[in-house]
Amino acid sequence: MNTLIFFIAGLSHIWNGDAVNFSGGLKSNYTFPKDFVFGVSTAAIQIEGASNEDGKTESIWDNLVRTNPKFTKDGSTPAVAADSHGIAEYLCAHNLLKAHASVYHLFDRQYRPIYGGKIGMSLDSNWAEPKGNTSSDVKAAELYLKTHLGWYAHPVYSSEGNYPPELIKLVDEKSRLQNYTRSRLPKFTPEEVEHIKGTADFFGLNHYTTYLLSMADGEVGQIPSHENDVGIVRVQNPKWPSMSSSDWLKVVPFGFRRLLAWISKTYNNVPIIVTENGYADFSGIHDTARVTYYCHYLNALLHAIHEDKSNVHGYFAWSLMDNWEWDDGFVSRFGLYLVDFESKNKTRTAKDSARLYSSVVSSRGLPDNYDPEDYSAFSGASTILIPTVLLLLPMYRLLL
Ligand SMILES: *[C@@H]1O[C@H](CO)[C@@H](O)[C@H](O)[C@H]1NC(C)=O
Ligand SMILES: *[C@@H]1O[C@H](CO)[C@@H](O)[C@H](O)[C@H]1NC(C)=O
Ligand SMILES: *[C@@H]1O[C@H](CO)[C@@H](O)[C@H](O)[C@H]1NC(C)=O
Ligand SMILES: *[C@@H]1O[C@H](CO)[C@@H](O)[C@H](O)[C@H]1NC(C)=O
Ligand SMILES: *[C@@H]1O[C@H](CO)[C@@H](O)[C@H](O)[C@H]1NC(C)=O
Repeated sequence: MNTLIFFIAGLSHIWNGDAVNFSGGLKSNYTFPKDFVFGVSTAAIQIEGASNEDGKTESIWDNLVRTNPKFTKDGSTPAVAADSHGIAEYLCAHNLLKAHASVYHLFDRQYRPIYGGKIGMSLDSNWAEPKGNTSSDVKAAELYLKTHLGWYAHPVYSSEGNYPPELIKLVDEKSRLQNYTRSRLPKFTPEEVEHIKGTADFFGLNHYTTYLLSMADGEVGQIPSHENDVGIVRVQNPKWPSMSSSDWLKVVPFGFRRLLAWISKTYNNVPIIVTENGYADFSGIHDTARVTYYCHYLNALLHAIHEDKSNVHGYFAWSLMDNWEWDDGFVSRFGLYLVDFESKNKTRTAKDSARLYSSVVSSRGLPDNYDPEDYSAFSGASTILIPTVLLLLPMYRLLL
């Protein structure tokens, strides 16, 4: 319900910037470095199914959709995949960060000496662009990154550790005004700050799209909530290029490049691995929109590496094959391989995007005929306007 209100607010503030240059960079001959790692990502719950077989037990997502059958667009659950309150969000993040740190130290102490390897954390983030050219909107965009991505990243990746000072100040102050006896944001002890700081060998980034930010006029979101505490509003221009089954998935390659630069600058040039990036459609083998999305985002990535000197070491396309896409059920398809969910064998067929990705990996660069200015694959308006629970998604993804 909350999200619906939010979306209507978005439509009523149609942003006056049609002449945007979305390009992540000019045509170039840049190639990916020799030791750059390519891969394709997927998640067990989204493709495995069989939550009740072989002693595999229910995950939080199995439980969420079993107890809330209307949660997904098509009523599906992940139980048969290629066979997402008022909850204590701050406490949840707090425990997660402490648990993460304990696992890191365990790995570092006990397993790394034997097996080697690297361990990090994957965080989902949009890029935040100021909605207009005002200092208030510039502040809102920076505040979004610091209090959303930074909520999880600052304790682990910053030199100081702990939650971002901006978040601590906002939640402490709001809690006081609301007559709580103490802040709703739990506090780390100095020992915990040290225990959590630096517990990652790399920064895993999941990235898909960009939003426009401004400061809220009054109260936003439920009271109390993280959204209400931070007090900013995010929208997208409905005219931005997209033709995705996920209406939030606007194609804004420069946002990817700017986000990589922001992470590099904010977190001491940490090695970054892009652990998810991709595009959703309804189906089909000739997926020109997905091919174009990957080309534009990989072009932005090449410019990030060669021109901005962002410290990116790897890239994983989301995803290997069509899967159970959280609240979109089986409607949205992100795969490089098409899965025929009707067939007994769940037959897989390579899409055009699978061939494109394979050529990028072998040539270490983009196809000769790639045109950074070509957005014709997205000329249609976004197709369906079903509100999603996107606001909650970054946390669910992280919890898996
Ligand atoms: C578009 O943006 C890119 C990167 O920001 C820039 O290099 C290029 O010159 C711009 N193109 C136009 C037509 O403004
Ligand atoms: C890219 O390489 C081709 C062939 O080596 C060359 O003709 C072209 O000028 C190069 N383009 C740029 C932008 O450097
Ligand atoms: C944005 O504002 C700055 C300073 O306030 C000004 O120099 C710049 O020209 C403005 N840009 C646009 C696109 O209006
Ligand atoms: C907090 O307490 C003050 C003083 O009793 C009261 O005026 C105010 O309305 C309370 N605020 C809230 C949000 O309940
Ligand atoms: C499904 O897989 C089985 C075993 O590999 C094979 O014998 C059968 O022909 C397949 N059926 C279809 C429709 O592809």
